[in-house]
Amino acid sequence: MENNENSSKIPLKDDNYTHNINRSNERCLDRRSFMKTMVGAAGLFAVSTLPWGALAAKELVSPSKQAYPKHKIANLSEIKVGEAVEFAYPSEHDTALLVRVKEQEFKAYQNACTHLRCPVFWDREEKELLCPCHHGKFDVATGQPLAGPPRRPLPEIVLQEKDGAVYAVGVKRYEEQL
Ligand code: FES
Repeated sequence: MENNENSSKIPLKDDNYTHNINRSNERCLDRRSFMKTMVGAAGLFAVSTLPWGALAAKELVSPSKQAYPKHKIANLSEIKVGEAVEFAYPSEHDTALLVRVKEQEFKAYQNACTHLRCPVFWDREEKELLCPCHHGKFDVATGQPLAGPPRRPLPEIVLQEKDGAVYAVGVKRYEEQL
């Protein structure tokens, strides 16, 4: 009897704090199994998110194949040199500005600031695209940020002149502007 009691005792140095569990039916979850499970879960997560990451990356860097509508912005006679008109493109929620920089030169940009999306406006005195929220400035020739917190250019709208009017026909991708 005393022998039996002694044989069920686990020496202190081997005690892994699970000696009171019936080991024959126990699923062993030691450190190695736990690590295997975690690595498997991480792998599964990585594989399951891969298509979305690839899609997002493709969307950011590949040339756009999106078909844009053709939208009449204004008749040339309606815009004086140095002035700007507001419009929306390609959807009614994408506000934009068309600036007549010179007699024969027009530039148009979506005017949601690339910092925190405040509406950028055309300062005709300074001849600059300004964001009033944090004093952001953009170059009207390129859309590139000149001052303030914005780091990315304003998305440029592709223009077409036809029959005395100016039309929006597309939006340049970010990498096409760099
Ligand atoms: S939102 Fe335009 S500078 Fe901050």
